[in-house]
Amino acid sequence: MVITDKVVVVTGGGNGIGRALCRRFAVECAKTVVVVDLDAAAAERVASEIAGVAIAADVSREDEVKRVVAGVIERHRVIDLFCSNAGIAVDGDEHTPAGEWQGCWELNVMAHVFAARAVLPGMLARGEGYLLQTVSAAGLLTHPTSATYAVTKHASLAFAEWLSMTYGDRGIRVSALCPQGVRTDMLQRASAGGRTFLVDSAVAPEQVADDVVKGIADERFLILPHPEVADYFRRKASDYDRWLRGMRRLRSTLK
Ligand SMILES: NC(=O)c1ccc[n+]([C@@H]2O[C@H](COP(=O)([O-])OP(=O)(O)OC[C@H]3O[C@@H](n4cnc5c(N)ncnc54)[C@H](O)[C@@H]3O)[C@@H](O)[C@H]2O)c1
Repeated sequence: MVITDKVVVVTGGGNGIGRALCRRFAVECAKTVVVVDLDAAAAERVASEIAGVAIAADVSREDEVKRVVAGVIERHRVIDLFCSNAGIAVDGDEHTPAGEWQGCWELNVMAHVFAARAVLPGMLARGEGYLLQTVSAAGLLTHPTSATYAVTKHASLAFAEWLSMTYGDRGIRVSALCPQGVRTDMLQRASAGGRTFLVDSAVAPEQVADDVVKGIADERFLILPHPEVADYFRRKASDYDRWLRGMRRLRSTLK
């Protein structure tokens, strides 16, 4: 799909990867870029910079996602591309309280479910539409210091696969964006252990946005700003135990 003349919605569009996507879609001459963010001021800043539309919303809540989608459809008639990008990364393990697990689940997984529920009826009726889910390389591999992130990103990738399998023959395209480190506030905020293995190979959000535009043009399911992730994924699949030994070694080097 080409972005030119398309109505595009980006959640978490006020900062980081989402902001870079909004800017890049504007350069690609999208008809409208709708910048959705919990941080109303950040959404406004990005929208005014690119002559887009800002909507403040918490996409981990279904009523808020419904409001966003209904508002965009009322004003712009269709949504061609919905980028479900907002996510949360915190360290977590088996002792992390259930409420924190739930918070990660709601944003990293259910926000994608709510988005699909709200936009698919219109897309299916038109026989076309595009869903981009920002997952993470952690969805294909793992995250050495965050079980909450690794588990919810695996679930998010599983949902993207499922959507593609179920609706691909009815004109719906799905891509899963799976970067390793990206130089955003999220990476800055990560704990030392969660950050150190990512910073050296971290890429700029603008590069991620370039890869997304190319991936969407090719209608490719996996968008990998770090191409080496495909090799890591192959190694994981071909010898799980060897891969786990390597991950234990990596884990032991992290503080
Ligand atoms: N930065 C990385 O290294 C990296 C790597 C792989 C994947 N990711 C994924 O990329 C996505 C974006 O990450 P980022 O690095 O740009 O993060 P970021 O923290 O820099 O920006 C995230 C934006 O999402 C908004 N947001 C947070 N919760 C929200 C909610 N409930 N509703 C609406 N908006 C909300 C924030 O206000 C912020 O503007 C996330 O899904 C993240 O897991 C990031």
